[in-house]
Amino acid sequence: AYILFAKAADMGNLKAMEKMADALLFGNFGMQNITAAIQLYESLAKEGSYEAQTENHVGEFADKLEKSEGIPVEKVRLTEGPENLSSHSEILDWDLYQYYTFLAERGDVQIQVSLGQLHLNGRKGLDKDYYKALYYFLKAAKAGSANAMAFIGKMYLEGNAAVPQNNATAFKYFSMAASKGNAIGLHGLGLLYFYGKGVPVNYTEALKYFQKAAEKGWPNAQFQLGFIYYSGSGVWKDYKLAFKYFYLASQSGQPLAMYYLAEMYATGTGVLRSCRTAVELYKVVCELGPWAEKFLTAYFAYKDGDVDSSLVQYALLAEMGYEVAQSNSAFILESKKAKILEKEKMYPMALLLWNRAAIQGNAFARVKIGDYHYYGYGTKKDYETAATHYSIAADKFHSAQAMFNLACMYEHGLGIAKDIHLARRLYDMAAQTSPDAHIPVFLALMKLETMHFLRDILFFNFTMRWKWMKLDNTLGPYWDLFVIGLIIAMLIFLLRNHHG
Ligand SMILES: *[C@@H]1O[C@H](CO)[C@@H](O)[C@H](O)[C@H]1NC(C)=O
Repeated sequence: AYILFAKAADMGNLKAMEKMADALLFGNFGMQNITAAIQLYESLAKEGSYEAQTENHVGEFADKLEKSEGIPVEKVRLTEGPENLSSHSEILDWDLYQYYTFLAERGDVQIQVSLGQLHLNGRKGLDKDYYKALYYFLKAAKAGSANAMAFIGKMYLEGNAAVPQNNATAFKYFSMAASKGNAIGLHGLGLLYFYGKGVPVNYTEALKYFQKAAEKGWPNAQFQLGFIYYSGSGVWKDYKLAFKYFYLASQSGQPLAMYYLAEMYATGTGVLRSCRTAVELYKVVCELGPWAEKFLTAYFAYKDGDVDSSLVQYALLAEMGYEVAQSNSAFILESKKAKILEKEKMYPMALLLWNRAAIQGNAFARVKIGDYHYYGYGTKKDYETAATHYSIAADKFHSAQAMFNLACMYEHGLGIAKDIHLARRLYDMAAQTSPDAHIPVFLALMKLETMHFLRDILFFNFTMRWKWMKLDNTLGPYWDLFVIGLIIAMLIFLLRNHHG
């Protein structure tokens, strides 16, 4: 396909040029060439193609939200360690998929419906495949699954490659599901009456079905109820009720409900105006856009060892404001596995990205910024700033790592006034916060107490110098080693007694 795209791009076809530029930038199929990508984008920009492309995306996005397909794409965190990477639960393993198909063939209705849903929406790394979806739903519906009947109704209502749009068949399947008290079926009937598909528009009937489905906790029905009260379709406008239903639906992550909630907060309709809340909600809705699918390809590229391709994709998402992408890009940069950037640019860039992730509330990133300032990675060594960031991570996010690091800085007076008591307390707090911190805290406290003990002795030594001088004479020049030996012997003796 890309050989043909390349030929068409050479002849000046804009769509093919876009395809090629994206492939060269993101490194699809190992053909990353960023310089060539930039050249292509520049000539595309001259043709004014960028505008066309964005408009196309926005249209597609609104359409997907309309069908409530704006399902969050799995965003794997690379910072969570390699064990999460290989067997991430959000992405279905091939083996597991094989096992599920086996169970579905054996007649497990629950699994048939799940596989149907995964194929209907293309989730968990599975391809969107309407034929497979229909196949599993029909199997399950035959076995009496009301959910499967409702999903078949949905497929007929929307129409797709496997199923032609058909209002009457949609009505038939929704009714079958609804007669079994199924929420998705009830909601489907509500939609048919609300939009007058295959039946005359009837807001009273629609309201009745939406209410029944909403009572069963179906978020799409809760959204529809909200919309009925918001727009005043067949009822008096009631913003308080609209807010209530949008809020209910938003708790399940219903994207359109979140969008309307944002609108209400932005304009102060039915609720006290709050730009902050509105922005937060708008951000969640934006992050459901189709561009989020890059999270999957970026993750797979990383897993396959194509670090450069993965980095560019995460970097793009990071620029769009996704916190997970900011952390992942920083993580990749820090690992120094990427080849597309000069080594000396990696740490400053990573620091910038950790900063953005930290501002969005990522505690791990906040500790990282502390580390960078502590060790002088990508910035000047600056203990004071390091301590500030550790403090934020410790106070706001109860990060055990930050408490530990901060304790260490208090112990040695790095960037902050030395304070042994505070150090001790922070070590204890770190151990209480995370079980992982037990052993390092134990060792650090041992060291702290020993040092403290020895320091007291040295102080004693200083004030009572003359006595020690005499000791020096009697015990020889290595008296201090002798004293340490004595202390250790005493400790062993005490510990033994303790255990006894
Ligand atoms: C279903 O109903 C809608 C709305 O009335 C209509 O636009 C559409 O053409 C109908 N579908 C078919 C296949 O008749």
